[in-house]
Amino acid sequence: MPSAEPCIVVILGASGDLTHRKLVPALYEMERLGAIDARTQVIGVSRRPKSDDGFRAELESGARATAGGAFDTAAWSRLAPRIHYVAGDAASGECWPAIARAIAELDAKSGTRGNVLFYLSVAPELYAPIVAQIDASGLVTEGKRWCSVDPARRSWQRIVVEKPFGHDLASARTLNRALGTVFEEDAIYRIDHYLGKEVVQNLLAFRFANAIFEPVWNANYVDHVQITASETLGVGSRTAFYDQTGAIRDMIQSHLMQVMAFVAMDPPSSWTPAMINAEKRKITESIQVPAARDAHLHAALGQYAGGTFAGVDEPAYPSLPGVAPGTTTETFAAIRFTFDNWRWGGTPFYVRTGKRMAAKRTEVVIQFKEPPANLFRGTGAARMPGDRMIIQIAPGERFSLRFNSKVPGAGLALRPVEMVMDYRTSFGNESVEAYGPLLVDAMRGDQTLYKTREETEDAWRAVQPFIDRAADGLRAGIEANYAPGSWGPESSRALLAREGRAWHDE
Ligand code: BG6
Repeated sequence: MPSAEPCIVVILGASGDLTHRKLVPALYEMERLGAIDARTQVIGVSRRPKSDDGFRAELESGARATAGGAFDTAAWSRLAPRIHYVAGDAASGECWPAIARAIAELDAKSGTRGNVLFYLSVAPELYAPIVAQIDASGLVTEGKRWCSVDPARRSWQRIVVEKPFGHDLASARTLNRALGTVFEEDAIYRIDHYLGKEVVQNLLAFRFANAIFEPVWNANYVDHVQITASETLGVGSRTAFYDQTGAIRDMIQSHLMQVMAFVAMDPPSSWTPAMINAEKRKITESIQVPAARDAHLHAALGQYAGGTFAGVDEPAYPSLPGVAPGTTTETFAAIRFTFDNWRWGGTPFYVRTGKRMAAKRTEVVIQFKEPPANLFRGTGAARMPGDRMIIQIAPGERFSLRFNSKVPGAGLALRPVEMVMDYRTSFGNESVEAYGPLLVDAMRGDQTLYKTREETEDAWRAVQPFIDRAADGLRAGIEANYAPGSWGPESSRALLAREGRAWHDE
């Protein structure tokens, strides 16, 4: 992995779950692999008062829990002294002089060359006020004056922005404008941790580093595509956030639309962020967006009912503490997307996600068409299902292709068999956690795996009819309409069944 430039990472919202469970464990992992510069420092900012040592101790337990048995104490001891803490409310001006002081001192002491990577890990409504404070602090010296690819630049300041990026199309636009007044577009890193997942990245290598798949990767050969991200966990303690958000905003608008873009886009003309993002833009722009009043024809929504599942007893979603009475927020969503372009015209992409479902599974299923003629009719061979490629992102990472084969022996019988590429057998180890390589990319100034302004707005445009108030009909009867441990509500099955199709696990 190429090494990153030295910098000071300022995590705004450092008491949160994300910092403890993902960001700092990822920094530790990158330190262990030698992927971050030894001069790099981390400053955590959040409201609760704590000492540097107290903060480090908290983070160590998070990093240990993530690493499991294989915790590398030496790597942690190299990173820990470079982690610091500033208490304060980053959305108000008061703590910014202290943050600026800490940055200046650390920069002078450790030689981070004035490079600062701000990381917004706070509630979305705080993004704009914090960006205004960053601006007022005068810490962004290079953002609007220098292009970060300018070889004459002396230092850089970049900002990583977490999802959800806005609440709808209008708020995403406002947020983009707010960021754009302080930072250049090439200093804004809109993160989506799904783009850090090995298999998601491999989708592009698989498609474009081989000549045999691309010719069949289109509406002539593909009957439909399914993209699933099912989870067994419930909403847990995140009700306040989740009830305002729901599955479409939490998972589809961001993660699954990114996966869909990688599956559906055309080959870029070169492996550069600009060319890759141009192709992603073209594909997200070509999504056919229905009117909100027709949303029910293209989607199915659900909320999980109560019950014990996988040893966990959880009440129905609508009766969780913190959930608004009569809530219509979805914990399950399935949407049928179509593209208005030459490659995919007529081939639906069914995208679904949900909490408290039968299994934790993140995958892409490419369902190929049946052969145009059944040569084996009259031979006693079974009907030949179309071939199916399953790209499993988690758990386990594998590509498999199911195709029809003759069963050995006399006579002719056919049966589907599987050809598999599993990461453990091919590469010998599990991939690293998605956040680490993405953070290193931000430190290297590589935006290939980050979302552009236009893309985030296109993604909101594509889901807008399903979150619009005019789509309330879609939410009728949503209350506790699927059992925990199931594959979602009956309406999800029906969405495919009315086109003569089925989810591959049903
Ligand atoms: C997060 C969502 O972005 O992604 C969570 O907010 C979800 O609700 C999580 O559980 C899923 O990520 P992963 O990597 O476990 O598939």
